[in-house]
Amino acid sequence: MKIAVLPGDGIGPEIVAQAVRVLHALGPKFDLEEAPVGGAAYDVAGHPLPPATLELAKKADAILFGAVGDWKYDTLARELRPEQAILGLRKHLELFANFRPAICYPELTAASSLKPEIIGGLDILIVRELNGDIYFGQPRGIRTSELPLFKGAREGYDTMHYSEPEVERIGRVAFEAARKRGKKVCSVDKANVLETSQLWREVMIRISKEYPDVELSHMYVDNAAMQLVKAPKAFDVVVTGNLFGDILSDEAAMLTGSIGMLPSASLDKNNKGLYEPSHGSAPDIAGKGIANPLATILSAAMMLRYSLGMPAEADRIEKAVQKVLAQGLRTADIYTEGTQKVTTVQMGDAVVAALA
Ligand code: NAI
Ligand code: MG
Repeated sequence: MKIAVLPGDGIGPEIVAQAVRVLHALGPKFDLEEAPVGGAAYDVAGHPLPPATLELAKKADAILFGAVGDWKYDTLARELRPEQAILGLRKHLELFANFRPAICYPELTAASSLKPEIIGGLDILIVRELNGDIYFGQPRGIRTSELPLFKGAREGYDTMHYSEPEVERIGRVAFEAARKRGKKVCSVDKANVLETSQLWREVMIRISKEYPDVELSHMYVDNAAMQLVKAPKAFDVVVTGNLFGDILSDEAAMLTGSIGMLPSASLDKNNKGLYEPSHGSAPDIAGKGIANPLATILSAAMMLRYSLGMPAEADRIEKAVQKVLAQGLRTADIYTEGTQKVTTVQMGDAVVAALA
């Protein structure tokens, strides 16, 4: 099984190295091939997603990705910025389904700003559509306004857009995921205002008939933002479009108080996927050896489960992570009094040692 390893920038190489160690320690032989991406690729090849890196990503069965981005590339033209690499990979590989679990490990409740009774034991999954919506809809641009009140002024405009097949495929992914979990899907939209959302809701209701064992509910996005803070445990799987999902998945991540803990997956229609931590390249702590590698290690576990058909190995990694947390080991981002502060490498050591 071929895995493309794309460490990227900032803390990317440090945290990916630990995930790679954990994969090697599992036993089965993986064919890992590394390539530069993001700013690191711009430095050596003049482009954040060079052809050789894209080719490797295309032929691999799965991609383990670190993070991209650094302030030093802020002055580059948009198409050369490191962040374009991740957008390019999503587009070229048709990774349309983004899985963002928000899990609050009992040991880490203290690291969240929310009350333990609200988030203790939280385990929800946000399924975000990645290839459509207002981020890609045409037309878009900046033009001269024709509105009577603002005639002649410059105006920016974008187009929210979803076709029926796009909604169907993300809906099915969410229902399938719910089947393996708590059997509830909450579809989030803004159907009281948006035409796109009305179609979205209609399609969700239609495909829900194929999944009689899963309960479908609907919620407006503004209410969903409130309910995520008020009673997040009431959700199981949340399915939503690209824009709403961008915002709600970051909100859900912060509920858990530990961005360094949250993995993510972006899948295509054949369950090939790109796996990465939910956080960015954290340039403020890069090179210090203190980054939390657990989000990346847990992303590798998701890769085994969703793309490589190795759920038992995925379980082993997840159990090992729970074990090191129970042992009281913490990187700086999740450290609280009475626990033991460890470095990135020490955390990797501990997970490797805890693998059953
Ligand atoms: P960020 O997630 O990189 O960092 C936010 C804060 O969380 C920082 O204080 C950082 O030190 C901390 N943090 C993040 N991951 C951590 C970890 N594993 N362990 C300990 N602490 C951690 O987000 P920010 O600062 O907004 O963006 C930094 C760069 O990352 C930017 O260039 C941005 O574009 C890029 N980025 C890349 C993403 C990707 O590669 N998919 C996603 C999000 C941002
Ligand atoms: Mg975001």
